[in-house]
Amino acid sequence: MIFDVVLLPEYQGRGIGKQIMKFLTELSKAPAFLLYTMPGKEGFYAKLGYRKMKTAMAKFPDPGMQQKAGYIERLAPVCLGAANSFGRRPARC
Ligand SMILES: CC(C)(COP(=O)(O)OP(=O)(O)OC[C@H]1O[C@@H](n2cnc3c(N)ncnc32)[C@H](O)[C@@H]1OP(=O)(O)O)[C@@H](O)C(=O)NCCC(=O)NCCS
Repeated sequence: MIFDVVLLPEYQGRGIGKQIMKFLTELSKAPAFLLYTMPGKEGFYAKLGYRKMKTAMAKFPDPGMQQKAGYIERLAPVCLGAANSFGRRPARC
């Protein structure tokens, strides 16, 4: 699991971030990596082959603030009702 790479402004844009990521991943020798980053840095990681996960989820005590800051998607209605014997969910879903 990688919890973001952050460089001081004077060290940014010199290829150091890319080198740190390469060093970390080569050092660990793991076959896969989970990454947690902040809004605005997705492009940096995308260039290194990281992709957004479709099933990653998070629960925060202040979801409104996290949504505003760009960490989570807008709350969507979630269907918690069980499917009936025909495999159908209640109409409100
Ligand atoms: C994001 C960060 C780790 C990247 O490290 P870096 O050393 O500056 O990046 P590199 O020079 O290794 O860049 C590698 C590539 O990623 C691109 N890139 C860098 N930052 C990017 C970003 N935020 N979004 C999209 N692409 C980015 C570069 O243009 C470069 O592209 P190229 O290979 O096509 O030339 C670094 O800029 C950083 O720490 N930024 C601070 C952001 C932050 O966290 N601020 C809040 C602090 S609380």
